[in-house]
Amino acid sequence: MKNIAITLAGVLFLLGSCSNPQENNNTSAIDQKVDSLLAIMTLEEKIGQLNLPSAGDVSTGISTNEGIAKQIKAGKVGGLFNINGLDKIRQVQKVAVEESRLGIPLIIAKDVIHGYKTTFPIPIGLSASWDMDLIQQSARIAAEEASADGIAWTFSPMTDISRDPRWGRVSEGSGEDPYLGGQIAAAMVRGYQGDDLSAENTLLACVKHFALYGASEAGRDYNTVDMGRLRMYNDYFPPYKAAVDAGVGTVMASFNEVDGVPATGNKWLMTDVLRKEWGFDGFVVSDYTGVSEMIAHGMGDLQVVSALALNAGVEMDMVSEGFLTTLKKSVDEGKVSEETIDNACRLILKAKYQLGLFDDPYKYMDEERAAKEIFSDENRAVARKIASESMVLLKNESKALPIKKEAKIALIGPLANNKENMVGTWSVSADIMKSVSIYDGIREVSANPDNIQYAKGSNLVEDADLEERISMFGKNTYRDDRPESEMIKEAVQVAKKSDIIVAILGEASESSGESSSLTDISIPDNQVRLLKALKATGKKVVVVLLSGRPLVLGEILPHSDAILNAWFPGSEAGLALADVLYGDVNPSGKLTMTYPQNVGQVPIYYSHKNTGRPLEGEWFQKFKTNYLDVSNEPQFPFGFGLSYSQFEYGEMKLSSADLNEDDKLKVTIPVKNASDFDGKEVVQLYMRDKVGTTTRPMKELKAFQKVLIEAGETKNIKFEITTEDLKFYTYDNLSDQNIIHTWETGEFEIMVGTNSSNLQSKTVNWSK
Ligand code: BGC
Repeated sequence: MKNIAITLAGVLFLLGSCSNPQENNNTSAIDQKVDSLLAIMTLEEKIGQLNLPSAGDVSTGISTNEGIAKQIKAGKVGGLFNINGLDKIRQVQKVAVEESRLGIPLIIAKDVIHGYKTTFPIPIGLSASWDMDLIQQSARIAAEEASADGIAWTFSPMTDISRDPRWGRVSEGSGEDPYLGGQIAAAMVRGYQGDDLSAENTLLACVKHFALYGASEAGRDYNTVDMGRLRMYNDYFPPYKAAVDAGVGTVMASFNEVDGVPATGNKWLMTDVLRKEWGFDGFVVSDYTGVSEMIAHGMGDLQVVSALALNAGVEMDMVSEGFLTTLKKSVDEGKVSEETIDNACRLILKAKYQLGLFDDPYKYMDEERAAKEIFSDENRAVARKIASESMVLLKNESKALPIKKEAKIALIGPLANNKENMVGTWSVSADIMKSVSIYDGIREVSANPDNIQYAKGSNLVEDADLEERISMFGKNTYRDDRPESEMIKEAVQVAKKSDIIVAILGEASESSGESSSLTDISIPDNQVRLLKALKATGKKVVVVLLSGRPLVLGEILPHSDAILNAWFPGSEAGLALADVLYGDVNPSGKLTMTYPQNVGQVPIYYSHKNTGRPLEGEWFQKFKTNYLDVSNEPQFPFGFGLSYSQFEYGEMKLSSADLNEDDKLKVTIPVKNASDFDGKEVVQLYMRDKVGTTTRPMKELKAFQKVLIEAGETKNIKFEITTEDLKFYTYDNLSDQNIIHTWETGEFEIMVGTNSSNLQSKTVNWSK
């Protein structure tokens, strides 16, 4: 047996050895190698490559795996995730390469979601920067750090469109808009994968969760999704497709069902849409126990659901071990063909070749680079910059912000002096105690640290059981057992001695994220009582929100002079926040999800369609589309965000009002910075297709530019629109429901402005 192993290892060495990265990327050369390898693999070994167990360092579900090393040796493991530390990773790779019959290297994965050790803002915060270069840079740094520390594959980007802030996972995505979501998905893929997957500092990316995971009913995680095809294609698919178009190497199936069949077993989704329509040529991995969860969905027993998933086009089984334990039987019984298994195995081996793992299985284990690059000063400086760019100024009355560096600040709030919660959800690699608390950050940037006085003021929520549920994964919130009145009294005393109050309110890091849905997204009552007491001192109150989702802010708006949404800013949280509060950085973030007035308005999003009875004019009107108790308006619209600058929009000019197929519409608008602060503005262009063969949204984001406009300067912002931008998915005829991507002639409204509710508009006619 030993001799065979040596011989096969020799074969593999020859198969694998191609030191030239260009050759490594040469598809046909890789295909040949994969085929030669497949030819010497047993059926069991092929099935083994489709198995992705969790090493159990971090658990997001119930893993039944034991004796990983034994399994690797037996050729039953294709990849491994949730394994931390170079030593451990090197050990398991060694077992795979030196002790399994064929010595096929493992692919080591991890959820590197918004940074590795250097942690960037949570993804919804990153998206609020509207800065594709910075977003790409964050993914690049994450890849550089993780790839030095043994990781080859990240389960990111998460591109699930969501219009329901009750869903905790909105924190992990880029908000409600398909166009913006697509731009961000592509930037993340470019950042992770770079130009060369075989480089030692790039990661294989994984777009997730395919598909429609963000549309779970009632915002309850993992819940049923039910959606018409046009909405899938027009609103929910674009970011996944953008990732595929950007060359993403892998796709993760979502937990939810899609049109009655769980995504993990949905052949239409995984094969017809993903591979045939979009041309995806990488491999698909299930989500955590996504295969075996189809038993609970009512799709059959483990053997049935495993065959269903594989036949649908899912190549790798994360954690369920359904492939490992049942596929051979299914082959024997003719329920799965060996060819299907070959094809699945081929895609996984191909990815391993593309990464260069056969050349050097230890290529991602670089102690020297890890020591130099991980959590380096340079990376942290970028994290600080990106965090400050992600913050959204929601209110700023009587110039409460920026604060003078000499001011005496009363810093109040349940997480105002907390490190653990700064990184936000899904930051499994972060050393949370290394993040900069708000207290430390503000003291460091202030003119005199002694001017910053702190009091906790309140707990996050009154309910101690709820607080326990939102302080998981070491994200301690240090619950205070004193009576509420005592905590408020202390805070008011501190406030009275200050020039200005900065109240840090909102959520805990783990109030959002996976399995963190809420029915009530307003600021907890005890925090509101604290805020009212602070406001009653007569001092100016700046509220800083920590949040992983849009919150309902009606209760706090009247009691605050300024509100800055800081999301969860990442490892440099306190410093980035101080940069914005003191005006070293002028806030430029804009919301990527609509903020509702109350939770009853959810789902709420800007790109809604018209009804047959739209409300035009004043709320309330009987027999029109509106509510009795609250207007249709959001609290804050999509695209909203203030600045310390004052931007004034001049008149929009169009190159023509009548266009033909090949024409380009040039849109120009002057934007003046009428203030003393240099500032960045996100100029947004929306369009409405006024008449269609199927109904069209009232407006859709089609382009945007984030531009620096210096104090007093006017910039002419230019956009170019072609018929490509007019395209949408519709039926070629209603009877056979064939979906086509096309544009239709007629009138289009062109809208430009500072957010989705504040736009000027002109109409053009486009003909063929
Ligand atoms: C999540 C995925 C994640 C996976 C692996 C699942 O529970 O839905 O987003 O990548 O776990 O940790």
